[in-house]
Amino acid sequence: MSGVFHLVYFSKAAEDLSYTDIREILEVSRRNNARLGITGLLIFRDGYFVQLLEGDEAPVRDVLTAIRDDDRNYSVKVLIEAIGAERLFPDWSMAFHDGDITTASSEHLVELFESVSASDLSKRALIMPILKKFRASAPELK
Ligand SMILES: Cc1cc2nc3c(=O)[nH]c(=O)nc-3n(C[C@H](O)[C@H](O)[C@H](O)COP(=O)(O)O)c2cc1C
Repeated sequence: MSGVFHLVYFSKAAEDLSYTDIREILEVSRRNNARLGITGLLIFRDGYFVQLLEGDEAPVRDVLTAIRDDDRNYSVKVLIEAIGAERLFPDWSMAFHDGDITTASSEHLVELFESVSASDLSKRALIMPILKKFRASAPELK
């Protein structure tokens, strides 16, 4: 099968989530994802996560199952499941953007959170194009 499976979800971070938790999530994610051929972007802002997972469908769905069971977040809502032509973050086992401490891409963040929280489904078509814009600031995404 050609193409890459893209999955984007939105979730609420646990109320007591700390930066140590986020560092641990990233460390484990990068290790697992490198092994599973998964790439993507994790965004944290104001108590919410948005994550893009891209790769083969089966491992991406397995990781999503683990994330749904992970009590560091809850109310996981899948927004996009689609086959795309190429990876948006081919060089990142999991890029990270902290919307609470970085001001880079803040316009994109506002746009993104408007789209993910919209009940109007047509706004979802904007999500992938907005995520693509974060590629421009990828070198900052430690
Ligand atoms: C917001 C969020 C994003 C996560 N993203 C990933 C991910 O991309 N890849 C991954 O393997 N685990 C991710 N995790 C962690 C998983 O829920 C789970 O803890 C981990 O996959 C278990 O790995 P282990 O079996 O190697 O301990 C994430 C967790 C949270 C809360």
